[in-house]
Amino acid sequence: MKGTVQPQVLPLAITDTMAVSRLANTIWRHHYSGIISERQIDYMLQQRYRPELIRVQLPSTDIWWRKLLLNDEIIGFSCYVRTAQPAVFKIDKLYIHCDHHRKGYGALMIADAIALMREHHFRSLILTVNKRNHTAIAAYRYYGFEVVGDSKVDIGGGFFMDDYLMRLVR
Ligand SMILES: CC(C)(COP(=O)(O)OP(=O)(O)OC[C@H]1O[C@@H](n2cnc3c(N)ncnc32)[C@H](O)[C@@H]1OP(=O)(O)O)[C@@H](O)C(=O)NCCC(=O)NCCS
Repeated sequence: MKGTVQPQVLPLAITDTMAVSRLANTIWRHHYSGIISERQIDYMLQQRYRPELIRVQLPSTDIWWRKLLLNDEIIGFSCYVRTAQPAVFKIDKLYIHCDHHRKGYGALMIADAIALMREHHFRSLILTVNKRNHTAIAAYRYYGFEVVGDSKVDIGGGFFMDDYLMRLVR
């Protein structure tokens, strides 16, 4: 839109890891309470979003961390990964602060994932999403993903991820 500042999707830098870790805490506590337990939220934040953990993943050629930047502020992030199947690219994380939902920014990040997928010659795009995360499922369907299976994963600590597996079909 004319005159409107559009956010940019850019690679995450080492100096962004603290900000993304903090943003993940904010988004997860807001979004997942009511979907998974507070204990599971604490466990998964520790397991996936410690700044030092993100930092060691940045140089990897199997993991792509991205940030959504609006007016110099990180308002969202995503992370894509290579999978055990050589042709399959996976959106492992996709999170936007709730103040910025429903503005088409999720679509922008999906377009970024598709561009990277093509650049690296993957042929299909998948993701997993909690079965109770109805708003994200609605967004993924809108982007052209369909449920193609279930994904129940033991993540340790007595916790499970009870997800749908979705694949981009158009
Ligand atoms: C899921 C998420 C990335 C979507 O991003 P977004 O920028 O809010 O969504 P978009 O503006 O691109 O929405 C595109 C379309 O998806 C659908 N959609 C998006 N959010 C929706 C919601 N809360 N309820 C119903 N439909 C929704 C709508 O059809 C929407 O089009 P519309 O706004 O014109 O009706 C974002 O809401 C988010 O970060 N959610 C919290 C974290 C999360 O659950 N991440 C996924 C983990 S697997």
